[in-house]
Amino acid sequence: ESDAFTYDPGFTSTASCESKITFIDGDKGILLHRGYPIDQLAEQSSFLETCYLLLHGELPSASAFEQFETTITRHTMLHEQFDRFFSGFRRDAHPMAIMTGAVGALSAFYHDSLDIQDEKQREISAHRLIAKMPTIAARAFKYSVGQPFVYPKNDLSYSENFLRMCFAVPAEDYVPNPVLTKAMDRIFILHADHEQNASTSTVRLAGSSGANPFACIAAGIACLWGPSHGGANEEALNMLKEIGTVDKIPEFIQGVKDRKYKLMGFGHRVYKNYDPRAKVMQTTCHEVLSAVGDPNDPLLQVARELERIALSDEYFVSRKLYPNIDFYSGITLSAMGFPTTMFTVLFALARTVGWIAQWKEMIEDPSQKIGRPRQLYTGSAQRDFVPISGRA
Ligand code: SDX
Repeated sequence: ESDAFTYDPGFTSTASCESKITFIDGDKGILLHRGYPIDQLAEQSSFLETCYLLLHGELPSASAFEQFETTITRHTMLHEQFDRFFSGFRRDAHPMAIMTGAVGALSAFYHDSLDIQDEKQREISAHRLIAKMPTIAARAFKYSVGQPFVYPKNDLSYSENFLRMCFAVPAEDYVPNPVLTKAMDRIFILHADHEQNASTSTVRLAGSSGANPFACIAAGIACLWGPSHGGANEEALNMLKEIGTVDKIPEFIQGVKDRKYKLMGFGHRVYKNYDPRAKVMQTTCHEVLSAVGDPNDPLLQVARELERIALSDEYFVSRKLYPNIDFYSGITLSAMGFPTTMFTVLFALARTVGWIAQWKEMIEDPSQKIGRPRQLYTGSAQRDFVPISGRA
């Protein structure tokens, strides 16, 4: 076993759960999925193969992967009645609001036939969620821009199918861009799972009550939306746009030091070293901008200079603040054609496999009980009720 496992987290007693899925060493900047380093998966695997790995614990054989890919592909359509769900939203509804509602609504379509104690039905739920998230995400996007929904096509790969559902229009033939397809697939891999982060812990806690997996994933989406968590990619790009040019960086940095705002896309609850995903994200950003954007994009110049300054400034170094996955993802996704409101939707789409793998692991743990975090009570001591007539 690699020396990563001599690492003693020092928090065994307070760990919220045991898991075999993802290992993070925040001090060494290590991220492993079922033992495989994230940079190797990002470069050599595919998102669907990584989904299989996260769900089953091993990389699939060729025949097992073909069967898995066929199953996912054949679950990508939504019930036709589902489309009316979207039309209930205002056109300017945030796609994350639509996503949260739509995924929760999936319960209504599958709840009555779902026994989560049945392994086969847990597997089917996982496949349905992994398969339908791109279709729901693409429809949330199409609805927000007032364009017609595009149906999935079974002869396309997972990421190519998603990009086509987002960007194809009836008025012209859709021409896939292999650089963007590869970048999308790699971005999904980078976001697939991340141990017991806030949204995954939300899914586990919701699932511990026996709630159906669609409702649990909807709870995870709601938690992910927060700007301190999955919403940071949208905020990080808004921050770069607000700074605008390199000469404005010193003034912005001073504002961070004065605690007026945070440096979005920097810092992490666990990583006190570079987020290994951020390095791959930065490379992907450059590839996408070279293919479809402007490698000299002013926002990329601002991001690079901001990173350079922050990594040499005592304020950030002393607080062990390094770029996280969200720092470069916004520029990349924007160059790919996505509005900022879709960034966290893409994060949720990818993280669904992590959430559902962790949900399955929890449900299949025979020692699992309902989650019940305890508190330290700091309120009033016991006292007797005073009728309103007797109060001042
Ligand atoms: C994700 O948990 C996961 O794994 C999440 C995630 C996943 O894949 O699921 O990795 C995805 O959520 C990544 C994080 C995305 N969020 C952001 O980029 C938002 C900006 N980051 C911060 O909000 C912050 O860094 C957090 C929320 C991520 C972590 O906050 P903490 O726990 O307060 O960080 P810390 O305890 O290490 O802070 C140490 C100090 C504090 O200052 P002091 O009060 O000690 O003086 O650093 C400061 C913090 O105030 N600080 C920052 C900062 N992050 C922490 N100051 C300026 N800018 C920041 N970004």
